[in-house]
Amino acid sequence: MRRALALAALGLGETSPNPSVGAVILAASGEPVGEGRTAPAGGPHAEVVALARAGARARGGTAVVTLEPCDHTGRTGPCTQALLAAGIACVVVGVRDPDALAAGGLDTLRAAGVQVESGVLAAQAAHQLRYWLTAVRRGRPYLIWKYAATLDGRSAAADGTSRWITSAEARADVHELRATVDAIIAGAGTVRADDPALTVRVPDKVRRPLRVIVDSAGGTPAGARVRDGAAPTWIATGAEVGSDPTGRVDLGKLMTALYARGVRGALLEGGPTLAGAFLAAGLVDEVVGYLAAKLLGAGPAALGPAGVGTVAQALALELTDVARIGPDVRITAVPKEDRQ
Ligand SMILES: NC(=O)c1ccc[n+]([C@@H]2O[C@H](COP(=O)([O-])OP(=O)(O)OC[C@H]3O[C@@H](n4cnc5c(N)ncnc54)[C@H](OP(=O)(O)O)[C@@H]3O)[C@@H](O)[C@H]2O)c1
Repeated sequence: MRRALALAALGLGETSPNPSVGAVILAASGEPVGEGRTAPAGGPHAEVVALARAGARARGGTAVVTLEPCDHTGRTGPCTQALLAAGIACVVVGVRDPDALAAGGLDTLRAAGVQVESGVLAAQAAHQLRYWLTAVRRGRPYLIWKYAATLDGRSAAADGTSRWITSAEARADVHELRATVDAIIAGAGTVRADDPALTVRVPDKVRRPLRVIVDSAGGTPAGARVRDGAAPTWIATGAEVGSDPTGRVDLGKLMTALYARGVRGALLEGGPTLAGAFLAAGLVDEVVGYLAAKLLGAGPAALGPAGVGTVAQALALELTDVARIGPDVRITAVPKEDRQ
């Protein structure tokens, strides 16, 4: 399973709307004879790739898969049938498919006489698949709010300058994070202030997540970098998505629309007004803060109003990781009730 997870990790960010899954086939003797991971959408699933490599050596063997094999015919045939046709005797999975708990792939395999086991390295598998699992359960993308701030929580100085609060190492780390998602979201205010490119610049990786600008009235200037064609861009306006009672873009409807476009993981890059609105709407699944060992003492806060009026209403988070990135600190946390 560790090997299957390592294979799946290589495909994160390139398989949506499918999950990035890893699979290893062991011969009846226990010897590994084939492995694979999900190809980009429309291509074969991990099990099919691994079975093709194993060939006849799969007969009587074991398939180890990070996610329960699919049991339906989508753009490819059901993996359950491919496993049965190959004569697999035992299937071991990390996590079950939330879509298929009632009539899932494992039930089909068990009914056909295959020995099945689930929950192996389940926590690791669920963490690796969290964008897809959350998206399928909620019908909207898994959303990570990422920000950079000084130690006193400011995202810009009093004169509005904000480049570069954190180090080159932290910015490189952000590009790695961007490479895992299908969409990068920013507010019209950030585009007006910073004119960001919102592209992925990572050596040896070609990833072009959809750039989404939340822009109530479609005022993003024609010359804005996000319109440069370097990656697909969607200027999401109230007219297209739907407006909330204040006339701004309805964020719940925006998320539903992104899911319909195949987005499973999204990165919200601010600014503070939009981040506050997403948090107030309960649409943020993970927070990644890069903190620089600097103080500004004045300037806008990293987060704008988020519907919190008193300390008892604070949005409680649980830390999941703290890491030093060059001279900065990266803190990862999830809303307490969502801890998985
Ligand atoms: N340090 C960081 O991590 C970081 C990251 C990003 C930005 N920043 C800084 O943040 C500043 C810009 O932030 P900002 O707060 O002015 O802008 P913002 O959060 O990027 O954008 C806010 C704008 O988004 C539009 N919007 C549309 N629908 C919305 C909704 N439902 N809820 C909230 N906003 C909605 C509104 O503009 P319309 O009415 O025009 O549609 C709103 O004014 C810049 O100084 C930038 O440097 C810092």
